[in-house]
Amino acid sequence: MNNGYRIAVIGATGQVGTLMLRLLVERAFPAREIVPFASERSAGRELGDFGPVRTLSGEAIEDFDIALFSAGAATSGRWAPRFAQAGAVVVDNSSRWRMDKDVPLVVAEVNPHALDHHRGIVANPNCSTMQMVVALKPIADAAGIERLVISTYQAVSGTGRRAVEELLEQTRALLNGQEFPPPSAYAHQIAFNALPHAGSFAAGDDHTDEERKLIDETRKILEDPAIRVSATCVRVPVLTGHSEAVNVQTRDPLSPARARQLLAEAPGVMVIDDPPAARYPLAIEAVERDEVLVGRIRRDPGHEQALDLWIVADNLRKGAATNAVQIAELLDARGLIGPRGAAEGRVGGVAGDRAN
Ligand SMILES: NC(=O)c1ccc[n+]([C@@H]2O[C@H](COP(=O)([O-])OP(=O)(O)OC[C@H]3O[C@@H](n4cnc5c(N)ncnc54)[C@H](OP(=O)(O)O)[C@@H]3O)[C@@H](O)[C@H]2O)c1
Repeated sequence: MNNGYRIAVIGATGQVGTLMLRLLVERAFPAREIVPFASERSAGRELGDFGPVRTLSGEAIEDFDIALFSAGAATSGRWAPRFAQAGAVVVDNSSRWRMDKDVPLVVAEVNPHALDHHRGIVANPNCSTMQMVVALKPIADAAGIERLVISTYQAVSGTGRRAVEELLEQTRALLNGQEFPPPSAYAHQIAFNALPHAGSFAAGDDHTDEERKLIDETRKILEDPAIRVSATCVRVPVLTGHSEAVNVQTRDPLSPARARQLLAEAPGVMVIDDPPAARYPLAIEAVERDEVLVGRIRRDPGHEQALDLWIVADNLRKGAATNAVQIAELLDARGLIGPRGAAEGRVGGVAGDRAN
């Protein structure tokens, strides 16, 4: 028995960090102390019961059992290995460690077993991948997945707080016939628009990094590198809640009725599928929910062994904060926090040098 863990939340003033703080309390995670960290900009700011925001330093990161990161890839690259070396298990929301072969990439309902081999850092998947694999897992188990064709409709909160403010400012200005500053969170105006450019284009790549994440992370989480994935990620003027149209070609036959039944029984999934009554998943209904909503389950008329699905979830909750806290709960339940954490061969021992 322990009297609760000492937990660091890095990025505690951000959208995901704020929610992780709230969820640790709401879900009664066994914590004896929760310490908020953020950048110099927020140093000393009081966060209610959590006390003043601290900044990261060699001394400040000592003696934690768990560190939940949501402060971007650069901060995770620099500080996650240091927390791990100091004995904490890190759960990281950024993209920095997800494809590292020594780092498990875990969705609570899909591959919790991957945690057993953690070496100090566990990665939380990208939000659009996260919600999709929760819905795909029962289909993969029942019939195997040959190919996915994905189009996303992603909310601006997935980009961070600044993008939410930009959408609201542009919307207000346009409705009032006012000028607004040039876009900064995105390449173009996001209000009343749809941008086929979610994420960024690396030099020489015709896919965005968001599209690459959907391809690579899906294969890693479902432990099936043979799945063929085509992805187009679109940013839409929605505040919170990512929607996805997913065409799933299975290896074995699977009827829409059987898929609906499997999804209805799957953990973390809620089926809403009554089109004549105009009942299907909506972004505005996913907000503040932890379930992944699935509907429009139907046969692809263009392929006898493919189904079409509409998958929606709260990108800040199941897409980030909820899954991070669920991972912490699983680590606790499996006895994977603590002395084992100080073992040699931790990710932090090797890759930390690379990140500096
Ligand atoms: N939003 C989503 O849907 C979503 C989903 C999955 C994963 N994620 C990932 O989660 C992370 C945070 O996303 P968000 O939407 O919460 O962003 P956000 O609202 O912009 O918050 C960013 C947080 O990071 C902190 N931060 C920035 N630079 C820092 C530094 N050098 N040292 C310490 N803290 C620093 C900020 O502190 P200050 O307040 O002091 O600036 C703030 O607390 C990102 O890595 C993102 O990719 C987000």
